[in-house]
Amino acid sequence: MRRLLVTGGAGFIGGNFVRMVLSEHPDCFVVNLDKLTYAGNLGSLADVLERANHKFVKGDICDSRLVEQIVDEHNIDAIVNFAAESHVDRSINEPKVFIETNVTGTLTLLQVARDKNLERFVQISTDEVYGALGPEGKFTEQTPLSPSSPYSASKAAADHLVRAFGHTYGVRFNITRCSNNYGPYQFPEKLIPLVINNALNDKDLPVYGDGLQVRDWLYVYDHCTAVWKVLTEAPPGEIYNIGGCSEKTNLEVAKLILDRLGKPHSLIKHVTDRPGHDRRYAIDASKIINQLNWAPSVTFEQGLKKTIDWYRDNHQWLANVVSAEYRSFYDTWYSGR
Ligand code: NAD
Ligand code: DAU
Repeated sequence: MRRLLVTGGAGFIGGNFVRMVLSEHPDCFVVNLDKLTYAGNLGSLADVLERANHKFVKGDICDSRLVEQIVDEHNIDAIVNFAAESHVDRSINEPKVFIETNVTGTLTLLQVARDKNLERFVQISTDEVYGALGPEGKFTEQTPLSPSSPYSASKAAADHLVRAFGHTYGVRFNITRCSNNYGPYQFPEKLIPLVINNALNDKDLPVYGDGLQVRDWLYVYDHCTAVWKVLTEAPPGEIYNIGGCSEKTNLEVAKLILDRLGKPHSLIKHVTDRPGHDRRYAIDASKIINQLNWAPSVTFEQGLKKTIDWYRDNHQWLANVVSAEYRSFYDTWYSGR
């Protein structure tokens, strides 16, 4: 039996990963450590929360005593670190908490992985550590790190720490760097759920600048299967890019969603651009495809349809997460743009 400590498992990707592991790999035991920040939500785990092979712990990855206690008590053999402050816009307003969780939190987990000689430490990183691309080319695992935002700088710092712990102390690690995810349970501060939520409510869709920035979209379940492959099949010390080969401009994404919902394109409103906005991301995922035989299960069009249907069918989940905190962030960030 694999005994995993998954951090950030009440968030978007971590929650989807926990659900996938509990459902498809029932021989695993998962301790799910999450601080339940504004982005963490036990409502996203309602169907799996009480499973016998799942234990939820509310707590901070910066709390080394708690992490040590969990590892000892549950005989943990691997950590998969999803916990993070994850929203670029929030990092522009309030960078400090990004350093605390994304850097100090990762350091704390690494120290425990080293001291307890865990079999594996998987760091969930991001393609944003590479910075921005021009109109051509793709990020490979050899692309130098050149982060642009406080968020991506904190994630790049964590990647450096992970590699340094491998090099210096022999921690058996992997790092995954994925492109933009979308799918069920994503907090509606990110582009796709924000556009769906606003369109469902006939509200304007704020598109930054000219809307021609490009992202490479991947359905969240496919990110989860890639992380599972890395955890269970990759040699230690390897870094893997993960992506959907699905580049779209933000305007294309907004229009596809409006069309699917039968709403007019006139809802799109161009607003002042994000400071330091990365123009284009694109992933060369050939290493994980060839070495670990991974492939996405859906196209962008199929995944987007599933996602829109999910948000339409789960309006109560959406209503619950659009809290007072969300409304206050939304008003501060978008007013006067
Ligand atoms: P999210 O914001 O939806 O979830 C983050 C989770 O971490 C939340 O449940 C939150 O409560 C928890 N958390 C925050 N600080 C914590 C702390 N100090 N201790 C314990 N828990 C804490 O994020 P997400 O979109 O699911 O991203 C998960 C990971 O994947 C992040 O590391 C992110 O950098 C990475 N990533 C995200 C994307 C994407 O498109 N969303 C793409 C590539 C990589
Ligand atoms: O590439 C992986 C990264 O993708 C992850 O590491 C991050 O955690 C995740 O948040 C995401 O970062 P982005 O900044 O690319 O995602 P976001 O959904 O915030 O924005 C996607 C694009 O849409 C980006 O070009 C900015 C634009 N945008 C976003 C919002 C929220 C808008 O035009 N309007 C908006 O209101």
